[in-house]
Amino acid sequence: MVTGAGAGIGRELAVALGEAGALVGAVDVDGVGLGETVERVRGRGGRVLGVVGDAADSERMREVSAEVVGAFGGVDVLINNAGRLFYGGVGESEVEDFEVVMRANLGAAVASTKAFLPYVVESSGGRIANISSAYGLIGVGGAAPYTAAKFAVRGFSESLRSELRGRPNVAVSCVYPGGVKTGIAWSALAAAGVDARKAAERFDRVVARTEPRVAARVVLNGVARGRSRVLIGADAVLADAVARLAGGQYEKLIRLVVRG
Ligand SMILES: NC(=O)c1ccc[n+]([C@@H]2O[C@H](COP(=O)([O-])OP(=O)(O)OC[C@H]3O[C@@H](n4cnc5c(N)ncnc54)[C@H](O)[C@@H]3O)[C@@H](O)[C@H]2O)c1
Repeated sequence: MVTGAGAGIGRELAVALGEAGALVGAVDVDGVGLGETVERVRGRGGRVLGVVGDAADSERMREVSAEVVGAFGGVDVLINNAGRLFYGGVGESEVEDFEVVMRANLGAAVASTKAFLPYVVESSGGRIANISSAYGLIGVGGAAPYTAAKFAVRGFSESLRSELRGRPNVAVSCVYPGGVKTGIAWSALAAAGVDARKAAERFDRVVARTEPRVAARVVLNGVARGRSRVLIGADAVLADAVARLAGGQYEKLIRLVVRG
């Protein structure tokens, strides 16, 4: 089961899972993008059920889980990939911006997990993976709502893993991608007054590094091995190392790296 499967990393996850012989459940708010994913999975011989829905809508996700389980008989792997980027820091963002971004990222992981968890824990090899971000490893200026939401996804994942410790059949992964070459910046939300177009151009030019197909492969390798933490790209590895090595001083180190 992959949320946000209508584009980017989620689409590549669905395609790779289909190629590996999995029965793929794919959900997205965007029916057009989802349709294209379904076509691609089938085009490569995979079996897929596409369902339009908002991953942050708990009622809808319960319906989706019932439909997927009705079709496939159960769910072994849940990848909570749906999320929205947001441009803007504390200064520019309204309280409502924080609420929207929190719902779009943490809310989507929570509602989807609540809907699918009863089935995943029944699996002999259950896996839940939540897609956080390198911004779930380090805080940087100008991105507080998105960073807070991705740190929240990390906290949610770690708490869930702890809660499921008595179930050795289930592993929970939290995934931290660095910049991945998807359209995420072009569908990003932004605080009033922030030039989202300029930010998206900069994303394409200097942030996006890893191909989404490669990102999906890294996710699936980590999930198959039951890894707690999965880092995607040298940029995420660097963010992780800087946060661990420099502790409370990492912000200074990042500024040096970014300037250099
Ligand atoms: N691309 C990157 O550089 C990058 C870096 C770090 C983390 N991430 C995270 O990886 C995940 C996937 O990102 P991407 O780059 O593939 O994005 P993307 O914008 O290319 O694709 C995201 C897909 O999720 C769907 N979606 C968004 N909110 C949804 C919801 N509530 N319910 C159902 N579908 C929803 C969108 O319609 C879209 O099809 C996101 O959680 C994102 O925050 C991406």
